[in-house]
Amino acid sequence: MKRVKSAEVLATHTRQLFNQAVERAAALLRAGEVVALPTETVYGLAANALNDKAVARIFEIKGRPSHNPIIVHVASLAMARECVRDWPEIATNLARAFWPGPLTMVLPRSNQIPDIVTASGVTVGVRWPSHPFIQSLIRECGFPLAAPSANRSNNLSPTNPDHVFKSLGDRIPLIVDGGQSQIGIESTVIDLTVDPRRVLRPGMIHDIALIAVTGALAGLSTANERTLKSPGLLQKHYSPKAKVAVLEWNNDSELLAETARLNVASQKIHILAHTHIPSASDYGRISVIPHDAEAFARAFYAELHQCDEEGAQVIVVEKLPETSEWSGIADRLKRAAATEF
Ligand code: TXA
Ligand code: MG
Repeated sequence: MKRVKSAEVLATHTRQLFNQAVERAAALLRAGEVVALPTETVYGLAANALNDKAVARIFEIKGRPSHNPIIVHVASLAMARECVRDWPEIATNLARAFWPGPLTMVLPRSNQIPDIVTASGVTVGVRWPSHPFIQSLIRECGFPLAAPSANRSNNLSPTNPDHVFKSLGDRIPLIVDGGQSQIGIESTVIDLTVDPRRVLRPGMIHDIALIAVTGALAGLSTANERTLKSPGLLQKHYSPKAKVAVLEWNNDSELLAETARLNVASQKIHILAHTHIPSASDYGRISVIPHDAEAFARAFYAELHQCDEEGAQVIVVEKLPETSEWSGIADRLKRAAATEF
């Protein structure tokens, strides 16, 4: 593994800094290097999607299994169409409704996409992200960018440049700082190659919004089916180091009774609450995240990263509402809580 001393971190909060970061990132990408950059969902680890050696570096740096395909990021419909063999009308309709934005469409791949990107599969996931930095960078490069989340395989996705630095800072030359990710969880992945269409990974663009455009969707597939289709959906993904427990309580004494059953010192228990906020207690940390799906998604991974950072043994998350708006977050929470106690 090629190691660099430590990644350069470039700010983008003035026009001049933004343009300089685009130039620097584009130069590295043209040279076949990888770069960590902001998207509106989570930070991505990008390489030229048309350069198989560059994409191979992503797998090496992340420790990603070669059977897990990578999403290709574009900055126009024309570029999206070049990545795929056919472009159904439904893709035009979905793009009109949700692009640029947190939606990945799985379509038959074109010949210009190297095998390594699709894990030798016949489909490719394509997304036009809305973050201004990645859009400018793709336009500057003129080629699409293959980019998984910028974390080591099996770790939590990063939602700010610090998270990326801690996970990959000694393995990559550049991290572009585009601030806190606005959406905060990964894109919705929809498979358009099956009938009816099927959501492979829920996200903030939820079923009700999709159905308004696509008509019927297949019911959520079983965990096994989805893992075969989309290996990144293995249960172990999206987990913090600490164990995660989802609990329900109406007041402090109910919470106390529930957490007592965990058999963990209370200082090692961190609470993430959105509705029933515990009052002062012996817990290691109490975080309040708003009872609002968009605000919750934006803060969720950063809170989990913070609990890990502070040495939490168990993260207790207050049970989430069961409506569509929360389904993407509920999916990640379920995975995070999948580890046995
Ligand atoms: O929001 C996102 O999607 C972020 C940002 C960086 O764009 N990317 C991301 O990539 O989350 P990654 O690699 O961490 O997750 C991509 C998921 C994986 O579960 C992978 O298996 C699935 O999408 N995927 C990619 N291409 C696919 C394909 N052709 N067919 C089925 N699943 C695919
Ligand atoms: Mg990932």
